[in-house]
Amino acid sequence: MNERKSIHGQWSSKLAFILAATGSAVGLGNIWKFPYITGENGGGAFVLVYLLCIALIGIPIMMAEVMLGRRGRRSPINTMALLASEEGKSNGWVALGWMGVVAGFLILSYYSVIAGWAMSYVFRTGSGMFVGATADGVSSIFTDFISDPEKLLAWHTIFMVMTMIVVARGVKNGLEKAVTLLMPLLFGLLLLVVGYAMTTGHFQQGLDFLFTPGPITGDAVLIAMGHAFFTLSLGMGAIMVYGSYLPKSTSITQAAFAVALADTAVALLAGMAIFPIVFANGLEPGAGPGLIFKTLPIAFGHMEGGILIGVSFFLLLVFAAWTSAISLIEPAVAYLVENRGMKRVYASVWIGVATWLVGIGSVLSFNVWADKTWSLPFIFENKNFNFFDTLDYMTANVMLPLGGLFIAIFAGWLMREQSSREEMNTWSWAYKAWRFLVRFVAPLAVIIVFLKAVDAI
Ligand code: PFF
Repeated sequence: MNERKSIHGQWSSKLAFILAATGSAVGLGNIWKFPYITGENGGGAFVLVYLLCIALIGIPIMMAEVMLGRRGRRSPINTMALLASEEGKSNGWVALGWMGVVAGFLILSYYSVIAGWAMSYVFRTGSGMFVGATADGVSSIFTDFISDPEKLLAWHTIFMVMTMIVVARGVKNGLEKAVTLLMPLLFGLLLLVVGYAMTTGHFQQGLDFLFTPGPITGDAVLIAMGHAFFTLSLGMGAIMVYGSYLPKSTSITQAAFAVALADTAVALLAGMAIFPIVFANGLEPGAGPGLIFKTLPIAFGHMEGGILIGVSFFLLLVFAAWTSAISLIEPAVAYLVENRGMKRVYASVWIGVATWLVGIGSVLSFNVWADKTWSLPFIFENKNFNFFDTLDYMTANVMLPLGGLFIAIFAGWLMREQSSREEMNTWSWAYKAWRFLVRFVAPLAVIIVFLKAVDAI
């Protein structure tokens, strides 16, 4: 087979891919979402299920996505069309690409709103308003902030514009440059906050909360699995599209492990930074989406050099969110460029504006529409979901695992063994292990977790 090339360019090195994929994976999911859903779902057992899902479902599916992307060298929609026809399978597989495009679009709509919170916290921390503040003071500053729709809208707008600019500039000039330096810095600052958490006198309690398993519900298992997909950017084509820019010689196995390891390390560090502060200040672990905004400023308000560290921390969090956001719309942008002949700039603007509009629903969920809630069928019968909760739940816990399930089925069952072996191009034992996981373990695990969450088993 002649080697295919992507019309959008290629990563300049293996490291560039790892950094970009890590940039996509490490984001608000690790630092904002992981701690708050861990808090809401009781800690230890939830973390354990999440780690198992990363190892047994996430890594194999990540390898499958990169492999499919590199083989197709197109946007996920067109990659699925091409590979399905090459393997003699139905063209219906393009639906998988489409579901990913819709999921990415919906995720970005609320992701941008939360990234806006982080942006505003760069300035709030910088103004010194948290210096010496009490836990109550910090909490009420946050509550006042999210009850102001205009502020949230302004930050959401700024973040969407930033995202459109990078995506418009394309693979090498935009995406790659944005990630190279910033990820290691974020890691370093996170370590500093963990260092502060060690001085609170509640570090051990934080660790116990994170790592001592207790009972767990079927809904919580679904959320842990959904989060494994969300945090690794799987099930919607983001990693597939990045794989399509990957040079032929790169080892997919090594790249997937590197990305998963870095991502998990950041999430666990975030947990170790936040829970000791929660317990030291008598806060509620289940405080919800505001958790990091109610805890971290306490640390920054009390530590030596806290203003500088806090400003840098939130700034890097914004960058981490930014490098994830660009990957959320890259599949859609690549599709418009390929099929509609649109310039990248226009494609980015169209999609950006549409995403921005949907995001207004999430802006309002925290204030004007706060009491517009409903329950979702099958799950959490006693919980009320608002617009934001619904989007978050349906994308992370339904669409991404479903996308991942179909990716596993396609790569493991429908693709000829020879095709996947050739594209994976890895050690024989690694290929065999991957194939077993992607054919049996990952799909069955997703199905069982789905069935358990709707109380069918
Ligand atoms: N992985 C990102 C995070 O943890 O913040 C979010 C994300 C990016 C999800 C890209 C899905 C995706 F395709």
